[in-house]
Amino acid sequence: MLRFLTAGESHGPTLVGILEGMPAGLNLPEDAIDHDLRRRQGGHGRGGRQRIERDHVDFLGGLAGDVTTGGPIAMRIENRDWERQRKREQPVLTVPRPGHADLAGAAKYRLDDMRVVLERASARETAMRVAIGSVAKCLLREFGIVVAARVLEIGGVVADDADLSREDVRRRVEESAVYVADAHVEAAMVAAIDEARQNRDTLGGIVEVQAHGVPVGLGSHVHWDRKLDGRLAQAVMSIQAIKGVEIGEGFTVSRMSGTRAHDAIVPGAGRPERSSNRAGGLEGGITNGQPLVVRAAMKPISTTLTPMPSVDVRSGEAAEAIYQRSDICAVPAASVVAEAMVAFVLADAFLEKYGGDSLAEIRERFGT
Ligand SMILES: Cc1cc2nc3c(=O)[nH]c(=O)nc-3n(C[C@H](O)[C@H](O)[C@H](O)COP(=O)(O)O)c2cc1C
Repeated sequence: MLRFLTAGESHGPTLVGILEGMPAGLNLPEDAIDHDLRRRQGGHGRGGRQRIERDHVDFLGGLAGDVTTGGPIAMRIENRDWERQRKREQPVLTVPRPGHADLAGAAKYRLDDMRVVLERASARETAMRVAIGSVAKCLLREFGIVVAARVLEIGGVVADDADLSREDVRRRVEESAVYVADAHVEAAMVAAIDEARQNRDTLGGIVEVQAHGVPVGLGSHVHWDRKLDGRLAQAVMSIQAIKGVEIGEGFTVSRMSGTRAHDAIVPGAGRPERSSNRAGGLEGGITNGQPLVVRAAMKPISTTLTPMPSVDVRSGEAAEAIYQRSDICAVPAASVVAEAMVAFVLADAFLEKYGGDSLAEIRERFGT
């Protein structure tokens, strides 16, 4: 139902996005999108690029005023770094950086200059994904579905926020330098990032996205490519540097017995309820009415101030990977990108079930 394309290079003039399939009649205030773009730029541990960029979305099509028309929504986010970079001669890159697409990308596209690969593989592209996810969140909010991300781990420092209310989590994540709700570990996470910087190294971590108010019946058990868990995993795994995806407590339950792992069904007010949510709101690839929980593991940033061993492909001789201006830790930013991708997949599944050409038509079907 919903699809999007992004285009643009990290140091090209602009990022472009087209989101197709949004119904007419949805209010899309630019400042709500920009708020998410600012969140993606933030978080302790980011590199110099974020001091240059002031990400802002320009809508180029698909809106009348602030309201969607039903046509494709075209968006642009300018790269301020472009002006600065194009004045400098960029040397040809022939030493592939470990952990990047450089070596395989240049072989695949028969490129002599690996910089061409770097420019498109870069996570700068995620700015547009966040804008698209932010639009998806606007649609979901109309139907009481709220998607929110936070950081659970950075460099092995683990947060414990299980006892906090949703409101406390929201407030604390917003105030936190590393988007973590557990105030007790925030300083330790910041210190771990500073230590990594001093050690000329980098860090990864784990993020979690939750969606509340999700109706029963999004996704389907009937065919592999309609299962919502599979669709979420693909979308979240497609984010640069994400190397593991977990639905609910997927990895923990693998170490439990069946009777402890599954969420018992108990009588409730009007319909059966659950005494736990280890399945993360999904059974058989269908939402079951519990909060949706998706976790993602991010590897440490690949570009390290301590040079990684590599090879100059021109000479075949050993060489050190070059340092490109880079983040030390981008786990907080990745949480915002994961939130965007989960929102996109949920909005897509929501439109499959309740879709219509306009918001008014969807409301009739949804029953609000
Ligand atoms: C928000 C975000 C920011 C990132 N920033 C950097 C960075 O500054 N330097 C870097 O080497 N990798 C960074 N990455 C990761 C790389 O883009 C990624 O590791 C690389 O393109 C190779 O892709 P892969 O790790 O998915 O295999 C970032 C990823 C995300 C999600």
